[in-house]
Amino acid sequence: MSLDEILTDAAREFAAVTSLPVLDQVKARYLGKSGAVTALMKGLGALPVEARKQQGARINEVKEQVETLLKARREALQREALERQLAAESIDVTLPGRGDAPGGLHPVTRTLARIERLFASIGFAVADGPEIETDFHNFTALNIPQNHPARAMHDTFYLAGDGATDGGRLLRTHTSPVQVRYMQQTRPPIRIIAPGRVYRCDSDVTHTPMFHQVEGLWVDETVSFADLKGVLAEFMARFFERDNLAVRFRPSFFPFTEPSAEMDIACVICGGDGCRVCSHTGWLEVLGCGMVHPNVFGHVGIDAERYQGFAFGLGVERLAMLRYGVDDLRLFFENDMRFLRQFA
Ligand code: PHE
Repeated sequence: MSLDEILTDAAREFAAVTSLPVLDQVKARYLGKSGAVTALMKGLGALPVEARKQQGARINEVKEQVETLLKARREALQREALERQLAAESIDVTLPGRGDAPGGLHPVTRTLARIERLFASIGFAVADGPEIETDFHNFTALNIPQNHPARAMHDTFYLAGDGATDGGRLLRTHTSPVQVRYMQQTRPPIRIIAPGRVYRCDSDVTHTPMFHQVEGLWVDETVSFADLKGVLAEFMARFFERDNLAVRFRPSFFPFTEPSAEMDIACVICGGDGCRVCSHTGWLEVLGCGMVHPNVFGHVGIDAERYQGFAFGLGVERLAMLRYGVDDLRLFFENDMRFLRQFA
């Protein structure tokens, strides 16, 4: 091949190539070990000195021109490849967004916040405690005797390896152990609520194994049952936004309060006339309460001769159901968006 032929052939072949790997193959035909330019170089040795110099210089010139052609073609192909890739991966920034789905608070969370706000407005601080409790805090310190049915395995979730004895651990069955923890650490006056999750081995239309309670505790030198009635009646009236909400207190029993009571409010669904929700009684049971038992004060080292106080515990889901008119407790925990969206 003459040098001129090499140059025109290389230019034509490079231009015809459409991919980088093929370009490398074509390059080898000219500049490779057995390529056309290399072959001419090898032939130089046979020429006389003068001719060798001239021919050598010309070959180098052509070699450089081939390399220049090659470089230009390589860059063009690289550019094309990049443009193809960019086109394939392009994002249409003018497309509309996927739609925003604003989050919302769960109805139980909303209810908890409402309860906290109302009690905060009359001076209650918020306290909390662990959901995994000791037998002592959940039962013993609350004056709940060893043989009480609530301690049975079918009512309480015990942690594996822990027996139903003092020192064992369990999922708290109520928020009342927070009373104990708070009074162990703080001297009266005490005015707290303790909202949180509680657990019981229970599952049917009106019971879920986990639910929420809000505990209340007010201890001072002169806190009386009249204060209990006043605070709770006022709270219920404000929670349900009823100016003249009738309430009543029925004698009851809790080991950790004495005297104890169940509080009822006039049915907020039918106004007291009787309906399915109030079982045609006109009344709704909303919480348990009473005056803190002296034995509880004894367990936490508070002088029962000097101090007295009241405690109460209410079910948050129950209040949420009554406020929002929800008729099935399980709806709160099924995460059905059609249900939850109504509160967002
Ligand atoms: N801990 C009780 C329960 O879960 C409620 C309660 C709390 C009653 C405080 C009296 C005082 O049923």
